[in-house]
Amino acid sequence: MKSKRKSVQEPSLKEGCEIILIPLETGHSSFIYKHLNHKKIANTYPISLPYTLKDAQLYVAHEIRSRQRETGYAFAIALDNQFVGVCALYDVNKLVGEAKLYYWVAVAFWNRGIATHALKKLMVFAKNELKISCLKTGVLERNMASRRVLEKNGFILEDTLKNITEYHAKFIGEQILEIKVDLQEQKA
Ligand SMILES: CC(C)(COP(=O)(O)OP(=O)(O)OC[C@H]1O[C@@H](n2cnc3c(N)ncnc32)[C@H](O)[C@@H]1OP(=O)(O)O)[C@@H](O)C(=O)NCCC(=O)NCCS
Repeated sequence: MKSKRKSVQEPSLKEGCEIILIPLETGHSSFIYKHLNHKKIANTYPISLPYTLKDAQLYVAHEIRSRQRETGYAFAIALDNQFVGVCALYDVNKLVGEAKLYYWVAVAFWNRGIATHALKKLMVFAKNELKISCLKTGVLERNMASRRVLEKNGFILEDTLKNITEYHAKFIGEQILEIKVDLQEQKA
C-alpha cells in the first residue's frame, strides 16, 4: 500500500515512553467502556453506540475464553502503565500458521505512534510465541490512519472487495482492503 501523505517509516513515541502489551483481563472492562464509547472510534470500528459497561464486560469475557481456547489473544495497550487501547489476534490457526488482527487506540492518544508500535509488538508475539507466519486483516478503504499503521508495519494489499458478508454487517456495501503480512520476511 502506498500513501502519498508521508514517507517516514517510524513515528516517534514521546521520549522515554514505552508501550507494553498486557493480556486482557476483567479489570480492563471499565477502561474499554470509557474509551471505546466514542463516535470517532465507532466510525471505523464495529461497535454500536452507546457502548455500555456490560458490552465491555461481555467482550472481555469472550476474549478471555478465546485465549483459553488458543483461538484469540487480546491485549491491553499500556503507555507508561496507562491503558490506551486494545490490540488482538483472532481466528488464530496454529496448524496453518495464520491469524487475523484488530486494534484501536483511545482518541486522546491518536497520532503518537501508539498503534504502530503496538502492532509491531503483536507481530513479534504472533511470530515468536505462536509460530504464526501470515497475518491478515480487512480495513475500510476510507480508514486512512489504519491503512498507514499497516503500511508502516510492512502489510501489503492482497485484494479489494465490496463488503457483503465477509466483514461486519455495520459496514455492508463499503469498500474493504484485504491486507496481509508474511512474518517470515520480518526482521523481528
Ligand atoms: C487506526 C488507529 C488505531 C490508529 O491509531 P494511532 O495510534 O493514532 O496510529 P499511529 O499514530 O501509530 O499512526 C497513524 C498514522 O496515520 C496517519 N493518519 C492519521 N489520520 C490520517 C488521515 N486522515 N489520512 C492519512 N493519514 C492519516 C498519521 O499521520 C500516522 O502516520 P505517520 O506516522 O506516517 O504520521 C486509530 O485511529 C483508531 O483507533 N481508530 C478507530 C478504530 C479503528 O479504525 N481501528 C482499526 C480497524 S482496521
